[in-house]
Amino acid sequence: MQTVPFGKTGETVSRLGFGMMRLPTLKKEDGSQPIDREEAIRMLRHGIDHGISYVDTAYGYHSGESEIVTGLGLKDGYRERVMLTTKLPQWLVNKEEDMDRLLDEQLGKLDVSRLDFYLLHALNDVAFTKLQKLNYKKFLEKAKADGRIRFAGFSFHDDKAAFLRIIDDYDWDMAQIQFNYLDDQNQATVDGLRYAGDKSIPVVVMEPLRGGALANPPRDVKSLIDAHPGNRSAVDWAFRYVGDFPQVATILSGMTTMEQLQENLRVFEQVLPNSLSGEEHDFIARLKKCYLARVKIGCTACDYCQPCPQGVLIPRIFAMYNDSYMLDRPGSLRWNYGSLIKNGGDASLCVECGQCEAACPQQLPIIETLKAVHKEAAQ
Ligand SMILES: NC(=O)c1ccc[n+]([C@@H]2O[C@H](COP(=O)([O-])OP(=O)(O)OC[C@H]3O[C@@H](n4cnc5c(N)ncnc54)[C@H](OP(=O)(O)O)[C@@H]3O)[C@@H](O)[C@H]2O)c1
Ligand code: SF4
Ligand code: SF4
Repeated sequence: MQTVPFGKTGETVSRLGFGMMRLPTLKKEDGSQPIDREEAIRMLRHGIDHGISYVDTAYGYHSGESEIVTGLGLKDGYRERVMLTTKLPQWLVNKEEDMDRLLDEQLGKLDVSRLDFYLLHALNDVAFTKLQKLNYKKFLEKAKADGRIRFAGFSFHDDKAAFLRIIDDYDWDMAQIQFNYLDDQNQATVDGLRYAGDKSIPVVVMEPLRGGALANPPRDVKSLIDAHPGNRSAVDWAFRYVGDFPQVATILSGMTTMEQLQENLRVFEQVLPNSLSGEEHDFIARLKKCYLARVKIGCTACDYCQPCPQGVLIPRIFAMYNDSYMLDRPGSLRWNYGSLIKNGGDASLCVECGQCEAACPQQLPIIETLKAVHKEAAQ
């Protein structure tokens, strides 16, 4: 297993990290899907025995069960062999004391006295503003001083501007971002990644396979991969792309089966920074182009059409539509759009005022497109 120095922490960490969000589950008659604890613990320990030394969980993963199973898996001497990370569920924080209370609860669930990393979970601009008002710095400093956490960081889901604002606000020990070869211009973006590197803040990457989608490419992308003389799998190409960036310290993978873990352990023997050739970079660019050619709506997510006076979340609707075609996952459109209908913001709210079309720099026929998406996606 390749390892890297982890910023100013002085620690050295494996390049592959174990994401405890997609563990194997059991299917119960009542419809619940608890973690298959025996298999999950076997996988976690196998990973650690083969060099994984970074473990990432969070309060909400597997409906709260992930932290408990992580704690169980790290018994019998495994705790001392890894850097353990969990995250503050910031959406449950309404007053200053909530942060202390939640951290204590999480230490209890994990059954440990100390975390290596504690991250503010899934920050976006709005959530971060709330935590600033609640004095998150004081909380993190206190938790470091009293020994409950060693290092502090944040995980992130918003745009580049928000990422830069957050990363400049505190002396972070690490940042966690979504990054893969389809998302190099989304969320924190490659610029944000490089900015973190310039500040010597190690970056941990989540969703390197875009939640698994890059492991199962559509037929045209798969044909390209199969024809490449390098004889690598789709997973291999996706990990190597992320691992080529020297700013990336550890890459998290949520692994559901022992076979996936074994493949990833094997691939990560070769995931080295600055190791891809020009030809390999060009090849990954071709894969990306092939995915993007499947995109149906030319929306650039510039947000100029927002806010719609009726609350229609136009860029979000177009992104879920494009994603479902790009990744060849028709079911995902109905699922995601269904939750939009439930929570507000779907296309049926449109009253055809035309304000969005006047603002759209791409001159998209937004009203007609919204109607077509709704017809296809509404259950
Ligand atoms: N902080 C946050 O806001 C946040 C958000 C997301 C994730 N995370 C963390 O980051 C970790 C990594 O993200 P992720 O789980 O989305 O990573 P990912 O690697 O993009 O996706 C994981 C999925 O990829 C598939 N996979 C993995 N290895 C494979 C292999 N060798 N062959 C075929 N398929 C493979 C599996 O999908 P199937 O099960 O479909 O086979 C697995 O569930 C998470 O586990 C979690 O710890 C944090
Ligand atoms: S045309 Fe529809 S989607 Fe566009 S701004 Fe007006 S109400 Fe919103
Ligand atoms: S203004 Fe046009 S391109 Fe920009 S987000 Fe809206 S629909 Fe997309």
